[in-house]
Amino acid sequence: MASMTRGRATNAGLVPTALMAAYYAQRASAGLIVSEGTWVSPTSIGFINVPGIYTPEQVEGWKLVTTAVHNKGGLIFSQLGHIGTATHPDHLNGKLPAGPSAINPATKSFTPEGFKDTLTPRELTVDEIKQIIRDYKQAASNAREAGFDGVEVHAHAGMLIQQFLCPATNQRRDDYGGNIENRARIVFEILDAILQVWGSTRVAIKLNPVAISNVGIMVPDDETIPLFQYILKKLSDYDLAYLQIEGPAEDLTGTPVEVLQNNYFSHFRRHYKGRLMANLGFTRESANAIIKEGTADVVSFGVPFIANPDLVERFQNNLPLSQSNQDTYYTGGEKGYTDYPKAEWNKLIAN
Ligand SMILES: Cc1cc2nc3c(=O)[nH]c(=O)nc-3n(C[C@H](O)[C@H](O)[C@H](O)COP(=O)(O)O)c2cc1C
Repeated sequence: MASMTRGRATNAGLVPTALMAAYYAQRASAGLIVSEGTWVSPTSIGFINVPGIYTPEQVEGWKLVTTAVHNKGGLIFSQLGHIGTATHPDHLNGKLPAGPSAINPATKSFTPEGFKDTLTPRELTVDEIKQIIRDYKQAASNAREAGFDGVEVHAHAGMLIQQFLCPATNQRRDDYGGNIENRARIVFEILDAILQVWGSTRVAIKLNPVAISNVGIMVPDDETIPLFQYILKKLSDYDLAYLQIEGPAEDLTGTPVEVLQNNYFSHFRRHYKGRLMANLGFTRESANAIIKEGTADVVSFGVPFIANPDLVERFQNNLPLSQSNQDTYYTGGEKGYTDYPKAEWNKLIAN
């Protein structure tokens, strides 16, 4: 089950709740659940009611979740995230957001008063970058204490790491900007820090080389393909649990990454030697096909898990899937969260 922000940590401390434990437990047959993106520090926040993993109270809250999933025989990784500049002072006690460079990412931030435009941030100092890396390490350690089975680094779709990778948002002239190696440096420094806490096969990373919508100015450019080839080659030496790659949500024709249009996952497969998890828009059939042809080792599902807590059983028995209601993705409360029923076998057999 791919990571999905659901905005149910509806309390001032951003502490995971019993309702969240119930939601994840309902989906425990997924095999491996990746938790919703979770803040590694108070300065990493950028979306309302998303939980953190940086206070003792949050760690206690996550214990409810991990225990509930384990009691149902499931496994769960914590997805560690930092939103960087794609936030708003409303999330930061009025302070200006900070990122690789003082460049407005031109995205939106979901604040208590609704979606607001991002602002021109300030540039992080090298000391602050080092602190962020320590925050990831501490969050990974907290995830261990909270009973998670591993961690996934959230490095895709407009988050801080992508802001470093992308030359449109990273114009630094120090070791963290400029050429591909420098822009990608933070990925490996974060992974190396986490590997001081977890064995490599309990650590994963999620990337999206081609996100086009909802990422403001962080769109693919002429260096996107060599950049990700460099990252994947280097990640191949890490023996991670898996590398999750999210596929293209849009037609790539006419973009600088057009050559990936028809061979997206097979292109990245060639550059990554470890376990590859493919994601985005898969069905039972297309997931089985990509695994059978050897392009991916494993496939993750996001949206299908929202309305089908028993997605695995439905796939196993070829049962129809329910559709989720987008209006309740982030609204808090049980509605559209824990109230999707399992397949009604009796009715289906009778029909
Ligand atoms: C409501 C919702 C929230 C999401 N939140 C996250 C998130 O917190 N972290 C993340 O990496 N991806 C997030 N995603 C993306 C999913 O993990 C997944 O990559 C995407 O939905 C494509 O897979 P699918 O077609 O199987 O849904 C979210 C998707 C949805 C629908």
